[in-house]
Amino acid sequence: MDSIKEDNSYSYSIKKIYSPLPCSQNDLVDSMQTYFTLYKESIAHPELFWGNIAKEIDWFEPWTKVSDGQFPHCQWFCGGKLNAAYNCLDRHLSGNRKNKTALLWEGEFGERLSYTYQELSQEVARYANVLRRHGVNFSDTVIIFMPLIPQAIITMLACARIGAIHSVVFAGFSAKSLLERIVDSGAKVIVSADGGFRRGKIIPLKERVDEALKHTTQIQKVLLFKRTGAPTGWCHGRDYWMEEEASLVENTCEPVSLDSEHPLFILYTSGTTGKPKGVVHSTGGYLVQTAFSSKIVFDLQEDDLYWCTADIGWITGHSYVVYGLLANGASVFIYEGAPDFPSYDRFWQLIEKYKITIFYTSPTAIRSFIKWGPQWIEKHDLSSLRLLGSVGEPINPDVFLWFYKNIGKEKCPIVDTWWQTETGSILISPLPKVTPMKPGSATFPLFGIEPEVVDEKGEPMPAGKNGLLVIKKPWPSMLRGIYRDEESFKKIYFSRIPGVYFTGDGAYKDEEGYFWIIGRIDDVINVSGHRIGSAELESALISHPAVAEAAVIGVPDSEKGEALIAFVTLKEGWTSSLDLENALKEHVVKEIGSIARPKEIRFIDALPKTRSGKIVRRLLKEISREGHISGDVTTLEDSQCLDKLIKG
Ligand code: WT7
Repeated sequence: MDSIKEDNSYSYSIKKIYSPLPCSQNDLVDSMQTYFTLYKESIAHPELFWGNIAKEIDWFEPWTKVSDGQFPHCQWFCGGKLNAAYNCLDRHLSGNRKNKTALLWEGEFGERLSYTYQELSQEVARYANVLRRHGVNFSDTVIIFMPLIPQAIITMLACARIGAIHSVVFAGFSAKSLLERIVDSGAKVIVSADGGFRRGKIIPLKERVDEALKHTTQIQKVLLFKRTGAPTGWCHGRDYWMEEEASLVENTCEPVSLDSEHPLFILYTSGTTGKPKGVVHSTGGYLVQTAFSSKIVFDLQEDDLYWCTADIGWITGHSYVVYGLLANGASVFIYEGAPDFPSYDRFWQLIEKYKITIFYTSPTAIRSFIKWGPQWIEKHDLSSLRLLGSVGEPINPDVFLWFYKNIGKEKCPIVDTWWQTETGSILISPLPKVTPMKPGSATFPLFGIEPEVVDEKGEPMPAGKNGLLVIKKPWPSMLRGIYRDEESFKKIYFSRIPGVYFTGDGAYKDEEGYFWIIGRIDDVINVSGHRIGSAELESALISHPAVAEAAVIGVPDSEKGEALIAFVTLKEGWTSSLDLENALKEHVVKEIGSIARPKEIRFIDALPKTRSGKIVRRLLKEISREGHISGDVTTLEDSQCLDKLIKG
């Protein structure tokens, strides 16, 4: 792991921005003073605090104990019984929300679908029956490999309704990455589509499913939604069209009463090992905290139309497109396409057309908007917006200010929300009407969350000094484990600093207690807000016949946050060339998916290694970023390879 730089002072020159959104009489938190008071109470009496919050969702049977156990194994709302789909749908059907829009979708070509809560609830029930008809039972895992269309969300909720565990695989992943997740999850059923659309082109999802299934017999049923209408291969007795199956079943299905700790889903994420980790989330704790955080961070009002640009293949899509929002009875907008197709103003067109009020996106998207120029924005009326959000990576202060001025017109607060796949919910974020913003800082912890910046021994760092970001106490939506890998679970999060949860991020707190996240300090690279483990990329490169060894690092990139640079040594008989460079890039795309395409491949004679043979990525980073090395290299096996790199 990297050591982290000591000092940070640039934040002190940054001015605070006070919220342009006024508090109303109904707001529970109306000032920073109230925030600090309530925060202290929530930390002093977590059981009381979370016990009250949990009453905001519907339980079939009440819990007997708010929480039990300590890190790494914690349980929440013990003994309670509930159903996540019931909370996202049925409980809204008795009042005014029955005919309220739950989901509004637009596709790239302007197609549109919309579902009221009642309609969505019937669809979910119908597809839950289809899943059952094809052998999906309580506790079975279902892989969902789909474009961002309402049917994907319907399938997630259909799983939740019958107590099946969904594992959504991002549709940008390759057949090989899909296969890896199928095998690890033990799923017997995949729900997919003939394809999806991106920038006018068809993404051949079914082809990838077929390719993956050549290598396993584990999958018994492939259930497909029709999206593109393009012809696909067909395996009789295994493949079925969802729409045809749906006409054979009822549109009612009793929600199964599930234990609070019953797993709601598994979501794979990249880590420091070569293998993706299946992060497991619970039903009760996850739902309580995603619903609560959605409400306070996005200040949800009954007439909001909320748009989060994340795909459901990532945790943001799970927590802040589906569960947290629908549990609050919100109206959620989703869009299948890219922001630059057919033109650079696609997003602003949509905001204007539908009068979207809350817009939650990523710094990497904002950097693209900046690059494309203000003319695309000026054409549109964005006055419906009242709140903006950012997630996925640190937002540079300049990017924050651009977003604030050009999209929010200085009228919308920005919530810079820090969290992770593992945390399930937002843990550090401003409260939009209350917290003075400092561009680049995620500001303060939400209620019930105790983050700290510490040194290697777990001692708190003084203000302004960089350290490791940890969470000191369990929280309801924390991951319950890594699927079938207890050892990694303990090692990654709970071993480096005893007694606390280690986030993998470096951070510091300023003199006013604002948290500033610096970024990952492990070998995880954040490209466009998506996590890519260097080990995973290296294994992909090494699987190419030309490659002997590989080391991948992230370097700062004005658009993607970090860009991937691969250092590669070749096997005997191979020589470096532009063709080989391109072939290796394509190989990585084929192995992992297009999000992992390296920006550059550098061919070198040898990688810098310690005498025990460990590749020292830190040195490669330093050379790439600064052009020289300042630290000690005497422990290297062969320091000459570095001289060549610096000269090259
Ligand atoms: C990592 C988690 C949480 C959903 C999207 C990414 C970085 C996330 C912020 C933020 C600075 C951030 C961290 C974190 N990150 N949000 N507001 N400011 N960094 O989920 O793939 O699990 O990645 O993203 O490094 O550890 P993820």
